[in-house]
Amino acid sequence: MQIIKSIESLRETLKPFQREGKKVGLVPTMGALHDGHGALIKASVKDCDITVVSVFLNPIQFGRNEDLDKYPKRLEADANFAASLGADYVFAPSVAEMYPNGDPLTLVRDESLECLYCGAYRPGHFRGVLTVVSKLFLISKANHAYFGEKDYQQLFLIERMVKDLNFDIEIHRVPIVRESTGLAMSSRNEYLSVDERKQALAISRGLNEAKEAYLAGERGVSKLRDIVVKSIVLSRGQVQFVEIVNQNDLQKYSGVLKPTDKVVVLVAAFFGKTRLIDNIEFN
Ligand code: PAF
Repeated sequence: MQIIKSIESLRETLKPFQREGKKVGLVPTMGALHDGHGALIKASVKDCDITVVSVFLNPIQFGRNEDLDKYPKRLEADANFAASLGADYVFAPSVAEMYPNGDPLTLVRDESLECLYCGAYRPGHFRGVLTVVSKLFLISKANHAYFGEKDYQQLFLIERMVKDLNFDIEIHRVPIVRESTGLAMSSRNEYLSVDERKQALAISRGLNEAKEAYLAGERGVSKLRDIVVKSIVLSRGQVQFVEIVNQNDLQKYSGVLKPTDKVVVLVAAFFGKTRLIDNIEFN
């Protein structure tokens, strides 16, 4: 396993493999790797000849009052973890390497969903994500890239960007990895106190209860939504949003769901000062 810090050196390292037609897989991360990232790395190692894990805490996707400064950083442990799962390279550029002229003037953004759901509460977040992901695609020229379904809106926007801009890369969705308690794995779980970690189980519990109600025949959007909200509030969480949306276009449902509707519930909630996101597909 080699840690590569410069764009030029990553390009030079990958060139011979690419010339031989080897498949390169990219796993974009911000570090503080956990088993959720592990599932992405394993999927890439299985599909591809070479796996590159990028570890870059991308400042332009964080708002002023967000957790950029306290986000956990441990490059060496991340590299060891990635190596233990068969990754070949960790690409860990500095901010100056990725943005040598300061914040980029050219940004990739979507025109419709960047202000909804997570985007409504994190202005500028998705354009920061789409911009850095585009850069990572162009730098690595990877054939495959792996993203977790926990960041459902992010994944949707990346897939859409790849189609809209004809990136020559295949995007793979990897299901959410949960702790045995049901809590969706996230680098931000480290911020939770022992009590908050217990309380936060209300998110996955509420999502599962809503799915059970749906499978038992409940089709009222506000009734299904309320099940999740109630679970979080009863556990002292603060709901940021719970939305019942279409898996194919992320547009909100209202009223009564039809049998053909493809439903996913998106949630963001605070436990203490920690913002967590999660989701569940019904069908
Ligand atoms: O999901 C993340 O960790 C980040 O948003 C990503 C995709 C690595 C871009 O910085």
